[in-house]
Amino acid sequence: MHEGEALTAKKGEPLMVTLLAHGIDTASRSIKYHRPRGAFCMNGSCGQCWMRIDDLPNRPACLTPAVEGRSIGRQNAFPSADVDLFRAADLVFGGGFDHHRLATTPLSPLNAIMQGTARQLAGLGELSEQTPGPAPRVVEQEERLVIVGSGPAGLAAALEARALSPLVLEARESIGGQLRSGLFSDVPELAGLKDQALRTLGDRLWCRAAAVGLYRDERGPQLLVKKREESGERLVVIRPQQVILATGGYEQSLLFGDNDLPGHYGVRALAELMLVHGVAPGSRLVIHDGGAELGPRLYQTLKQRGLDCQLLDRSTKILRAEGRSRVKGLELEQGGQVRKLDCDVIASSLPTAPAYELAQQAGASLAFKPGRGFVVVADSKGHTEVPWLRVAGELAGADSALAAAASGKSAALGLGETA
Ligand code: FES
Repeated sequence: MHEGEALTAKKGEPLMVTLLAHGIDTASRSIKYHRPRGAFCMNGSCGQCWMRIDDLPNRPACLTPAVEGRSIGRQNAFPSADVDLFRAADLVFGGGFDHHRLATTPLSPLNAIMQGTARQLAGLGELSEQTPGPAPRVVEQEERLVIVGSGPAGLAAALEARALSPLVLEARESIGGQLRSGLFSDVPELAGLKDQALRTLGDRLWCRAAAVGLYRDERGPQLLVKKREESGERLVVIRPQQVILATGGYEQSLLFGDNDLPGHYGVRALAELMLVHGVAPGSRLVIHDGGAELGPRLYQTLKQRGLDCQLLDRSTKILRAEGRSRVKGLELEQGGQVRKLDCDVIASSLPTAPAYELAQQAGASLAFKPGRGFVVVADSKGHTEVPWLRVAGELAGADSALAAAASGKSAALGLGETA
């Protein structure tokens, strides 16, 4: 149920997919200006799709599966996310406002009103009235090798080290990362990777298992895993001898005016929606090629399917998106000329920013790489300065799916021989 209306969904598909399939692209409102918020990453990392789900606030609709009887609602809006009266803040303060100084004169009645209003508005969503159930059971297990992430790097590492029977953790419903879209089926080294891993590793592939912490205590390394099962979530504490992190990266957003409007996606998210779930979030699609290999690949595939899709090269600058509640077009600058482009979806195709958090928690050092963000300091085989930790793929600086797979294989070299 979405705000009192029953929606049909494929069992297990992410709720955000269900909403988009029903033409709903506003998931919530932003906290300060109450601007509409819609999915950007479809990967749980941007925070744009947080909704109230089964009466709990701030749950990612892009990762939460559709289940019969589940209730979802949009938050931070009054009276509704479609018609939000607080949107007036964005219209009245078009140039921005400084909430630290607005009406802060001591003893001013305005100040008291402003403070009260700010307290009411602060925070995302509202806490649930439900009494929390008992904490889920915690189980602990020992592993020789755990690989976090099942994209090309993680799968290549797992296959290389298969003699150790590694445990592979994947936060999503299925393995493959960017291979899930099928956009690399023409690359022999990548085309069969998923199937080979499924055949070889079987139940050592854990889907719906998110690694949320990686530390060392007096007993050695421990990896905390939030595992989603039919009966609910549970916490698994893994004691690994070795860990390979292949956690991939976060999609980055191209900078242009009103780039936060629903209808602006990362290119992986658009591929996920259209090719994995078969849901088109619009009918006039534009992909801006900012250097990630997926942009041109997705464009070719969508064109072959006869869809209305354009690829903008890097010489085209997007000045701003048009539309009040979602993208309805773009204003572009090319060769000194400004022109309008009619579209309802724009996808940024930029190199990802490595997801380094677990490596940093474990004690690895980071180095800034221009255009990418922070990568983990490691040698050419992915060995970090933490003896039990190796990194692979985007985390180690790989800039293509093929390079990620090669780096995964390299990071696992030699591990299987110690079995
Ligand atoms: S967190 Fe859900 S779309 Fe980014």
